[in-house]
Amino acid sequence: MSKFSILVLNGPNLNLLGKREPNIYGHLTLEDINKMLEQEATKLDVTLSCLQSNHEGFLVDSIHNALNHHQGILINAGAYTHTSVAIRDALAGVAIPVVEVHLSNIYRREDFRHHSYIAAIAIGQISGFGGQSYLLGLQALVNYLQEK
Ligand code: DQA
Repeated sequence: MSKFSILVLNGPNLNLLGKREPNIYGHLTLEDINKMLEQEATKLDVTLSCLQSNHEGFLVDSIHNALNHHQGILINAGAYTHTSVAIRDALAGVAIPVVEVHLSNIYRREDFRHHSYIAAIAIGQISGFGGQSYLLGLQALVNYLQEK
């Protein structure tokens, strides 16, 4: 069987990781996280495409473009998690298995972060483990795809 290909999508402000509210999001940059993910992907024998955008429409287009190219999506939609019906509908529309991740534990924070539009259409969600959330999410997604 050919290798699974995973789309890793990061939403708004995640390009600022490392300098953005480090007390909440830690000191790793997005580049650091992507490097960790690439190392894990090599171990898991899958390929990754990592994208970040501050624009909702770009994220929606990237999800559409994943059809026929990627078998799984790992997403940290940032603030769009709590606002974007469009991103949820795009994920539901392509019907590619998705795992939602967050660096911070969104349930320990402000009330407006407690609701995710993505959670109900995701396989699962990992929240609160910093950069480790992405690694756990990738492992869970690949395991799901292998078991399927
Ligand atoms: C975040 C949590 C969101 O509430 C926030 O808007 C982000 C980052 C996280 O990874 O903890 O931008 O998704």
